[in-house]
Amino acid sequence: MQFIDLKSQQDRIRPQIEDRIRQVLDHGQYIMGPEVKELEEQLASFVNVKHCITCSSGTDALLMALMVLDIGPGDEVITVLYTWISTAEVIALLGAKPVFIDVQPDTFNMDPSQIEPAITPTPGPSCRSAYTANART
Ligand SMILES: Cc1ncc(COP(=O)(O)O)c(C=O)c1O
Repeated sequence: MQFIDLKSQQDRIRPQIEDRIRQVLDHGQYIMGPEVKELEEQLASFVNVKHCITCSSGTDALLMALMVLDIGPGDEVITVLYTWISTAEVIALLGAKPVFIDVQPDTFNMDPSQIEPAITPTPGPSCRSAYTANART
């Protein structure tokens, strides 16, 4: 059984895809080229924000979000059990500790009622980050 029919999706816009691929091959700017800037601008406009920064993978996106918050050794990051491994992996990669809570059974989103009980009492800032990335099948 074919769960995702990429071919029929692609067939609808095939000429446009081929045109854009040809343009990239013509200018040869494969990294950070004009198409990347165009995509970032369109995405920012679509979600109505000033800036959009693209990156190479979902894992990098998660890592960047934690780096912006300066997450590192000594920090705990509350996240969900029901997700892809990258969600916890990037927390550990930065030297922080993942603290797992569950998702809501109806939405598969983080159960907000479990966040506060999962916060470890510290003399410093109490909760800088609770983040989630759900893998839905
Ligand atoms: C919830 C979630 N987060 C992160 C990732 C990692 O994305 P990538 O494979 O692009 O690094 C995945 C990939 O399946 C994912 O499902």
